[in-house]
Amino acid sequence: MGFTDFVSNATYDLYEAKLEKEVLEGQMPKHVAIIMDGNRRYAKDVLKTDDTSEGHRRGKDKVEEVLNWCLKLNIRVLTIYALSTENFSREDSEVDYLLKLIIETMYELADDERVHKNRIHVRMIGDRELAPEQLMDAVKCVEERTKDYENYRFNIAVAYGGRQEIVSAVKEVARKVKDGSIDISDIDESSISGHLYTSDDPDPDLVLRTSGELRLSNFLIWQLAYSELYFTDVYWPGFRYIDFLRAIRSYQQRSRRYGT
Ligand code: IPE
Ligand code: MG
Repeated sequence: MGFTDFVSNATYDLYEAKLEKEVLEGQMPKHVAIIMDGNRRYAKDVLKTDDTSEGHRRGKDKVEEVLNWCLKLNIRVLTIYALSTENFSREDSEVDYLLKLIIETMYELADDERVHKNRIHVRMIGDRELAPEQLMDAVKCVEERTKDYENYRFNIAVAYGGRQEIVSAVKEVARKVKDGSIDISDIDESSISGHLYTSDDPDPDLVLRTSGELRLSNFLIWQLAYSELYFTDVYWPGFRYIDFLRAIRSYQQRSRRYGT
């Protein structure tokens, strides 16, 4: 490492420590949701390779890190968008690779000391009918081992689509009307939210998306009605602790008035 790098790393560390201290003094979001985006562009633009799997692999490693950051900052619920229903229409080889990484992640979490020590309940949210059997085996393994944990919650959205989630909630409600267990006039917001995958989580306080895209892409569209949105240009594999801290500081600086 040259002298300039040394100085810039030291400056960076100082800035990170200062930011962390500031953030720890503020109100922490209870639930952070992340749209991880930019893996393929990272491979191409930063790693200078056409092999997109390299970008996805680094994206997976980043998830590991983010979990540590959440524990450090005591953020109780983390939800990540690992694979949307739309992502299934990518080339088979890419979908297979993404699924392989997700399966690995599930098994690693099932054995992860951090998960058990911190009592993190890990779950898949998404359409289980669309999930291949191998994925479901991995999901069942981690869900079974962590089902009694209540300290933290880690939701991994796979085969997930926000509109589909609402459609299935509406179907559940309609079924209850049909069998007479509820009346149409009883239907309210909580009847819908109570049938979403995230029914027992607080709504996200903050949703962040990497790679400069300014869209929600069908992610938690009901739950995000009042959430703060934060967008950053960095590609997901290049997302650093300092970027995460900035997102939280931005959340802390905005006043949440719910339109009043
Ligand atoms: C996000 O990165 C990975 C997934 C969650 C599927 P992309 O694969 O969308 O990479 P870009 O956005 O094309 O760079
Ligand atoms: Mg993308």
